[in-house]
Amino acid sequence: MKYISNNKIENKRVILRCDFNVPVKDNIILDDSKIIKSLDTIKYLLENNNKVIILSHFGRVKKEEDKITNSLKVVYEYLKKYLDIEFIKDPLNLDQLNESNSNCYLVENTRYTDIPKKESANDLELAKYWASYADVFVMDAFASLHRTHSSTAGLSNYLPTYFGFLVEKEIEGLKDLINNPNDLLVIMGGAKIDDKISIMDAMLKKCTKLIITGGILNTFLKVKGYNIGKSICSVDNEVLDFVKNILEKYHDKILYSEQFIVLRNNENIEVNLNEIEDNDIIYDNIIDLDKMVLNSNMIFMNGTCGKYEEECYSKGTKKLLEALNLRRNVYIGGGDSTSAVNTLMAQNNYKYVSSGGGATLEYVAYGHLKALDYIEENSKN
Ligand code: 3PG
Repeated sequence: MKYISNNKIENKRVILRCDFNVPVKDNIILDDSKIIKSLDTIKYLLENNNKVIILSHFGRVKKEEDKITNSLKVVYEYLKKYLDIEFIKDPLNLDQLNESNSNCYLVENTRYTDIPKKESANDLELAKYWASYADVFVMDAFASLHRTHSSTAGLSNYLPTYFGFLVEKEIEGLKDLINNPNDLLVIMGGAKIDDKISIMDAMLKKCTKLIITGGILNTFLKVKGYNIGKSICSVDNEVLDFVKNILEKYHDKILYSEQFIVLRNNENIEVNLNEIEDNDIIYDNIIDLDKMVLNSNMIFMNGTCGKYEEECYSKGTKKLLEALNLRRNVYIGGGDSTSAVNTLMAQNNYKYVSSGGGATLEYVAYGHLKALDYIEENSKN
């Protein structure tokens, strides 16, 4: 892999792909760690007299209204604390680059071009258009390396391409987990099962035990015949069949907690799996890690045990993070788990906390990242 750490880039126009897809509520950035971790590369490129044009996606844009809630303006305002930067409002019109003297720009959400799909379909005309404003492409969006999009992969067809400091750090940090995952305990949580299901099979082949937690557990419990009240769960028949199959195939590997915090008549109460009532909503589940898995060589956690952002539902995630803090070789990956670590743990001893969510999950499960492979293939030509 070609890194900027061993290929000096100076006096160039650089397109830098970052991942600024950060959690935001009421226009406030809830976890800025992805932004902060990107600053090393940005500052280094600026110090070496480059003109830096930053691209990033932000949420998913499927219809015009999505543009309002998915503008990178909030990140631009935040970046102004650290950088002298300009904002380019239209990712399909970068002419401002010719008209202004600034050295640093953030371009509006690349997925604004997705109606109809361009960026997410790796439209090469779009990549070529962006490339026409630069001499070099630096890919530093580790958390987007599982997406072959125009801004993460397509650009490498038109520009000499290098990886930035964050990608280098992530590849190094996750090295043992990817190359040597023996006796691996995986903890998969989070809210949306439909996003994670396709990866679960590959993950189950890799690990010794898989603890399922968070919202995704509800579907497993439902398939097993438990009452989950009004909790979120998948209604997709394909997903339900898949869950049934893997529960049969891997019954000795899959583990889950039987203790939950549910919302019942406007009160939060802790109940056992068999005590859940028809109108309850599960918002947290509590894992006794030492009871479930006493020993493991490595642990990878992706996703949280519940709605940890609300204090009344943070008990499960906090308890698990504290138990993990006493174990060796713990890797945390996933936007939500990383935010949970930043919010709930004053300090930690984990081996590595990744900035990637889906990317880290795919990297661990398959040992590959699609955009990384795409860029590597192009750099052979
Ligand atoms: C993430 O937050 O995991 C990355 O930014 C990828 O986002 P995506 O799943 O919308 O491509």
